[in-house]
Amino acid sequence: IKRVTTSSILAMKKQGEKISMLTAYDFSTARALDEAGIDILLVGDSAANVFAGYETTLPMTLDHMIYHASAVARGTKRALVLVDLPFGEYQGTAEDAFKAAVRMMKESGSHALKLEGGVEILDNIKKIVDAGIPVCGHLGLTPQSINKFGTFGVRAQEEAEAEKLKADALALQAIGCFAIVLEKIPAKLAKEVSDALSIPTIGIGAGNGCDGQVLVVNDMLGFTKDFKPKFLRQYMQLYNGVVEAASKYAADVKAGDYPNENEQY
Ligand code: KIV
Ligand code: NA
Repeated sequence: IKRVTTSSILAMKKQGEKISMLTAYDFSTARALDEAGIDILLVGDSAANVFAGYETTLPMTLDHMIYHASAVARGTKRALVLVDLPFGEYQGTAEDAFKAAVRMMKESGSHALKLEGGVEILDNIKKIVDAGIPVCGHLGLTPQSINKFGTFGVRAQEEAEAEKLKADALALQAIGCFAIVLEKIPAKLAKEVSDALSIPTIGIGAGNGCDGQVLVVNDMLGFTKDFKPKFLRQYMQLYNGVVEAASKYAADVKAGDYPNENEQY
């Protein structure tokens, strides 16, 4: 099996082939998504929400992300493994951002890093890219800045923020980012940005004009209880399935039905 690389991702955009990306946080899920042919597995700091139960992504540490990313990397043969640098690790000096990036690459077995933000952190991203570490940008709704935004609502609906987003996207491309995630922005703006860039855009809640799509795996499997934003398509009802299976198991144990003769030594 040939590994998906940043160059194959770029080639997909050139050939008009859409790019599929899902998040993953553990070995077993990574294996299944890899077998399904998902191009990029994102070890998202959304692990904070769906794995750890935090309200925001801010509590994630470099150690947490390395632990999740190494598990995902061990579960893949084909997918490119992309990992989020967590809040606080790259917004200070370029030197500190670089150190965090190098540690992640050395210890996680992942292939590329994702960092939230545009011109504000451009020098820091450039230092990482210049060292040969592929970086994916992330614009629009950037959850690590939730305390600045105040809500998880749609971003860049007004002219000024839309113009800044376009400038940020071009700047990220200019310093060598290999892709950009566009989160929760108007479809029309996402299409404009995608058409203006030679690197691929990967959208979430950003419409069909992006070069690829990403979803949080727990959300698309219906494992996240009571979460159904407009952009989300659920491909399973895993939460209900797990409740049902666990209820049956509990009933079988209580009834003395499990294990039966064939399920013991
Ligand atoms: O952490 C995450 O899941 C993400 C995606 C929503 C793009 O950054
Ligand atoms: Na993230």
